[in-house]
Amino acid sequence: MKDQSCVGIGIVGSGFLAETRARCYAKAGVAGRIVAVTSRTLEGARSYAERHAVPAAFDDLEALLALDEVDVVDLCVPNLLHRPMTEAASRAGKHVVCTKPLAAYVGQDLAADVEDAAVSSRGRREMLEVAVADAQAMVDVAEAAGVQLMYGENWVYAPSIVRAADLLQAAGGAILEMRGWEGHSGSHSAYSKVWRNTGGGALLRLAAHPIGAMLHLKREEGLERDGEPIVPVSVSAEVADLSRVAAVSSDGTELAGGWEDVENWGCAILTFSDGTRGVAYGSDNMLGGMESKLEVMGSRCHLKCNMTPNDLLRAFAPDGGVFGEEYIMEKLDSGAGWTTPIPDEDYSSGHIAMCADFLRAVSEGRPALADGRLGLEVTRVVYAAYVSAEEGSRFDL
Ligand SMILES: NC(=O)c1ccc[n+]([C@@H]2O[C@H](COP(=O)([O-])OP(=O)(O)OC[C@H]3O[C@@H](n4cnc5c(N)ncnc54)[C@H](OP(=O)(O)O)[C@@H]3O)[C@@H](O)[C@H]2O)c1
Repeated sequence: MKDQSCVGIGIVGSGFLAETRARCYAKAGVAGRIVAVTSRTLEGARSYAERHAVPAAFDDLEALLALDEVDVVDLCVPNLLHRPMTEAASRAGKHVVCTKPLAAYVGQDLAADVEDAAVSSRGRREMLEVAVADAQAMVDVAEAAGVQLMYGENWVYAPSIVRAADLLQAAGGAILEMRGWEGHSGSHSAYSKVWRNTGGGALLRLAAHPIGAMLHLKREEGLERDGEPIVPVSVSAEVADLSRVAAVSSDGTELAGGWEDVENWGCAILTFSDGTRGVAYGSDNMLGGMESKLEVMGSRCHLKCNMTPNDLLRAFAPDGGVFGEEYIMEKLDSGAGWTTPIPDEDYSSGHIAMCADFLRAVSEGRPALADGRLGLEVTRVVYAAYVSAEEGSRFDL
């Protein structure tokens, strides 16, 4: 029997992001409960269900969608499944949360048996067209079905960025320049090293976060002041695989290696419709733990948003074993010396506030702050950046 006062969540996938979601929905402070999970294997789904006391586990999305108690489906699955699963869930009348990137180019317009190289060597203009068409189709199918498509961009909800947005509004004036990046010492997942699996490298996996936050802040600035969103109008970018630099050998670095055909460094310069700029980059070449930062230079103030690391707590340990198995922070390479054990990474990254907004959006029937439209625009900017990097010139959106 459906509990009308509590939003029923169906989780799809049982990996890294699905774990984050289980923690964050539980901490959201809004009535919502994971009522079912489906994963690629029944074993994976059952194991997740046991860990998080989820009453139903399947290896079939349709079985989860058939449950009346599922109000919203949260897609924590590889990028190539985002569009088909959004379509299936929308048509079943379920609201959808889709993680970043909303859509990606993974060779969906090619024959299934083409080599990996045929996917990664596809022209970037074709990639842009296919990825944007997928993202647009996701927005359209949700709209036609009368359900919400929410975009899982946690940066939009990070407490430091939310507070910065408030201060920018209080200060007035314009955001002139933004610099944002996400970086760490490299994904250790073999999956992320192949374009066919992910649809891109550091620009898509990592820089999509600062790009999402920048598009959000400029849009809000324009709406607040002039009733019109400020939007990106062009992008210039470069990408590189820095593991191929001659002086780097795999046994001489702690950085992740094994990059097949995706970049592990990417930088995009965005020009907005009011002439202001944003510089976003993603890097898999950053030792010392995860960095997620956004700096905002306004005409009346200057703000530095630290999601990771932040120094609410600093700790010193003479060697890496002092704190035993204690978690310090994401992707920290060593616990020795001075570190910043973050009191609640799910809070400072914005994940908890994001889950709370998604649950409220569903129960109150209003749009989420991060919605499918934002996901569509991020997809457009990232793939336009790939076009610019390939052609060596600025790309007008
Ligand atoms: N901050 C963020 O917003 C953030 C952070 C991390 C990841 N992500 C995004 O989250 C997505 C998943 O990444 P992840 O790191 O969680 O990957 P992951 O750890 O590999 O988990 C993916 C999960 O999807 C399952 N799966 C694969 N095919 C499926 C299918 N057909 N039906 C149902 N489940 C299926 C996998 O099952 P098996 O394990 O059995 O293959 C696995 O449980 C990606 O789009 C990524 O970009 C976002």
